[in-house]
Amino acid sequence: MNWDKRVLVGVTGASGTVLAMRLLTALEGYDRHLIVSDGAKRVMKAETEFSMDDFRKVSEHLYDDSDLAAPISSGSFRFRSFAIIPCSNTTLARMASGMADTLITRVAAVSLKERRRMVLVPREMPLSTIYIENMLKISQAGAIVAPAMPGYYTKPKTVDDMINFVVSRVLDLMGIDNDVSGRWMDK
Ligand SMILES: Cc1cc2nc3c(=O)[nH]c(=O)nc-3n(C[C@H](O)[C@H](O)[C@H](O)COP(=O)(O)O)c2cc1C
Repeated sequence: MNWDKRVLVGVTGASGTVLAMRLLTALEGYDRHLIVSDGAKRVMKAETEFSMDDFRKVSEHLYDDSDLAAPISSGSFRFRSFAIIPCSNTTLARMASGMADTLITRVAAVSLKERRRMVLVPREMPLSTIYIENMLKISQAGAIVAPAMPGYYTKPKTVDDMINFVVSRVLDLMGIDNDVSGRWMDK
């Protein structure tokens, strides 16, 4: 397996399940390894019509968040990048304190120790000091913190445009070439 084609995606219980679905769809052609937390399943039910079957269709490998023995939990498993989208404040706090008690937080801990590319997409408003401190800590440890904050310079007309803006920037940060959204001064 060409590990450069492997991407890992964690979905946690922050609002914005739709961001994960859009990202996974855009990653078609890559070897997609997906973990969905129990919190994410609750939020998915509350704010979308998606089911786990829909997520199965946009991933080549789907893991249970409690499966700490999954192949992706080892530092010997190589991959291009790992995104947690959306990233809840609970998962952020666990990662920032070094906990690795779920598959998502274990893969995050491994990504940090192996210096792999990890992109976190938190979604909360406003931010408490604790949330901000945890973002600072994880950023200093090597993760890229990319909050779900769309820009307005592309003149978005629909919610879809705003979703695509965030997903496009996340793909950029994962090292994935894409034209999901326009760019500043693009002709
Ligand atoms: C409908 C709903 C929306 C939520 N939205 C957010 C959110 O935007 N940001 C956040 O950090 N947590 C949010 N939460 C709380 C998390 O789901 C909760 O902290 C959960 O324990 C996260 O677990 P996980 O990180 O393992 O997925 C929301 C919960 C529900 C039920």
